[in-house]
Amino acid sequence: MARIVVTEFMDERAVALLAARHELLYDPKLVDDAARLLREAAACDAFVVRNRTQVRGALLEALAPRCKVVGRLGVGLDNIDVAACEARGLRVIPATGANAQAVAEYVIGAALLLLRQAFKATHAVIGGNWPRAELSGGREIGGKRLGLVGFGSIGQRTAALGRAVGMEVVAHDPALPADAAVYATLGVAALALDEVVRSADVVSLHVPLVDSTRSLFDAARIAQMKRGAILINTARGGIVDERAVAEALQREHLGGAALDVFAQEPLPQSLHFERVPNLVLTPHVAGVTAEANERVSFLIADKVLEALG
Ligand SMILES: NC(=O)c1ccc[n+]([C@@H]2O[C@H](COP(=O)([O-])OP(=O)(O)OC[C@H]3O[C@@H](n4cnc5c(N)ncnc54)[C@H](O)[C@@H]3O)[C@@H](O)[C@H]2O)c1
Repeated sequence: MARIVVTEFMDERAVALLAARHELLYDPKLVDDAARLLREAAACDAFVVRNRTQVRGALLEALAPRCKVVGRLGVGLDNIDVAACEARGLRVIPATGANAQAVAEYVIGAALLLLRQAFKATHAVIGGNWPRAELSGGREIGGKRLGLVGFGSIGQRTAALGRAVGMEVVAHDPALPADAAVYATLGVAALALDEVVRSADVVSLHVPLVDSTRSLFDAARIAQMKRGAILINTARGGIVDERAVAEALQREHLGGAALDVFAQEPLPQSLHFERVPNLVLTPHVAGVTAEANERVSFLIADKVLEALG
């Protein structure tokens, strides 16, 4: 019987599936106790993390002698030194595709909300006001151009939902040739990054955080976006300059923004986002829904069990 350690939250029924087959430590708070995390890492055959556990350095050294597999309850691998894991014979298993629908729905939902802006009237209406004239300029999503930066699992799912609500969809992904069949299948035009950025009404980011994407959306890139365009970042903090987003919204160069991920998480109390218009901030939940948590958790439970044999 192997020993499995789960350091962050996981669907309880998937946890039970692991516990039925092996010895299991499930402690969603383990990630916050560095000393205990190191001790438990040294005594496991499989290690299951979400995005907060940093699998590198001392933690990786503690894991290496015994552990065979690291399951990642999600897809971004920027919290795992994959090359160093592989060099030590540790297999890293991400939950590829399992939360794509959740992120894609977040993107289209945020775009609808930010274009229309009607929902910001709630407090005014409760207070007996009727700001109908002020809200008569809300924009429709149908016919707008959605620009996707990164056209992998989530980018493609977002394209399908965007097309379903009547958007024209363009995308840029350096790893996919412009004649890749998936573009035609989904009715998406492959464009250069500059063309996507300059022409889209809604720009949504779906790239991993790697050296080539760090600060990809800095002040200069944001300035290239169409006046009034919407920027949505569900990919990773560090890809977008958060202060530049706030400034572009204040200047009304951007018409709205939704940020789910931040360079530092949790976001420390942040003065530069205060009183910024048409901004939605969420705590890294775009990929986390009840359904996605179940899919991600069962996929990783099954693959970890398979890897343990
Ligand atoms: N906010 C959340 O809850 C949440 C949930 C899931 C995933 N994510 C993030 O979304 C990212 C994308 O997930 P995915 O499942 O679509 O991954 P994926 O690997 O299927 O697709 C990523 C795509 O980005 C492309 N890419 C790499 N560098 C690029 C660049 N410089 N310009 C344009 N494209 C580039 C790759 O070629 C690939 O096709 C993940 O890496 C993760 O960081 C966030």
